[in-house]
Amino acid sequence: MFIVFEGIDGSGKTTQSKLLAEKLNAFWTYEPSDSEIGRFIREILSGNVKVDNKTLALLFAADRVEHTKLIKEELKKRAVVCDRYLYSSIAYQSVAGVDENFIKSINRYALEPDIVFLLVVDIETALKRVKTKDIFEKKDFLEKVQNKYLELAEEYNFIVIDTTKKSVKVVHEEILNYLKSLKIM
Ligand code: TMP
Repeated sequence: MFIVFEGIDGSGKTTQSKLLAEKLNAFWTYEPSDSEIGRFIREILSGNVKVDNKTLALLFAADRVEHTKLIKEELKKRAVVCDRYLYSSIAYQSVAGVDENFIKSINRYALEPDIVFLLVVDIETALKRVKTKDIFEKKDFLEKVQNKYLELAEEYNFIVIDTTKKSVKVVHEEILNYLKSLKIM
């Protein structure tokens, strides 16, 4: 079972993905990953290194190829819960101006998750929740990213949960109830 959490920063996806992984005794992981490529990406995200948006899209795809090998290994043993995956690239990099078909084609080796939870949130609330800001942490940009995610939700059948004004516990229960309704728990 490969479960992915998507959403803008401040949506609660890291907290919720960790809680779910704990509950399921699953392997929790994230992107950009903890690899050399992932670390280089974080330098770019912090604004220390400047590259073209197409280059950044390629780096995310490269990081994903490496990370997917680890995910596949873990999936042989247990469920995997991943904080961000392919859809982060489609949403963020397309809003940053990179052609969507190009993004999809360089990510053609990504796995298809069994379930994607998209956590949505009022943008002001998200910005208040986020402590460390990266190059994408701007209101207008995040608004467009969230709208793009909602488009993708229709295309790929994500489970959409609004976390605005909801406690961590309430959102966690919603996620568990959804999985129970699918007889996954
Ligand atoms: P994080 O704050 O969840 O660690 O994510 C880091 C940033 O990287 C966040 O602004 C979203 C962005 N990102 C992309 O633009 N494309 C991607 O493919 C991934 C995985 C993250």
